[in-house]
Amino acid sequence: MPNEVTTRTLNSDDLVAIVDIDERTGGVNRKAFWEGKVLIQEGSRPPWTSRVAESDGQVIGFLFCHYEELEFGLPGTTAWVDIIGVHPGYRRLGVAATLIEDFTFSAEDLGIDRIFTLVSEADHPDVGKFFNNQGFTEGRMKHFRKDLGGSGD
Ligand SMILES: CC(C)(COP(=O)(O)OP(=O)(O)OC[C@H]1O[C@@H](n2cnc3c(N)ncnc32)[C@H](O)[C@@H]1OP(=O)(O)O)[C@@H](O)C(=O)NCCC(=O)NCCS
Repeated sequence: MPNEVTTRTLNSDDLVAIVDIDERTGGVNRKAFWEGKVLIQEGSRPPWTSRVAESDGQVIGFLFCHYEELEFGLPGTTAWVDIIGVHPGYRRLGVAATLIEDFTFSAEDLGIDRIFTLVSEADHPDVGKFFNNQGFTEGRMKHFRKDLGGSGD
């Protein structure tokens, strides 16, 4: 692990670091996209727990999440991990595991029933292994889709 890794609720001051981590990962600057994500996060009520990880005062990872009640007809509440990312220089050191662990504690504190996430193994072949390592198992729900001719996947 880097010196000491702590996590805290994400805020708009973290935008620059998040954009930088994402750009180092994907090679594209997506500032406008992340501005929108941070804005939604800050506006969400009740306050929810999208988080950043810090070491030596530097943001080295982030986790965006949201939660829904009675989603898909499931009873209770479901928290979603939307996006998780760690600075390439700090990977395989347990940073993302710490983010997920702290997020899970917060979700349990709030009485959330389950955590979901979607993984595109074509785009991120190793991410499934990461979630397995954090105690996530493959769910029983099926993902159906209907393509509408846009250029994205
Ligand atoms: C996926 C990601 C968040 C993992 O972050 P990380 O801080 O390196 O992960 P951790 O160090 O906490 O990993 C914990 C365990 O998960 C598993 N794991 C993590 N990354 C893995 C990889 N690339 N391949 C295989 N297993 C992996 C390992 O079991 C690891 O434990 P170990 O290092 O002792 O073997 C990071 O690689 C990343 O930011 N990737 C790019 C963005 C991305 O793909 N995000 C997910 C889609 S939203």
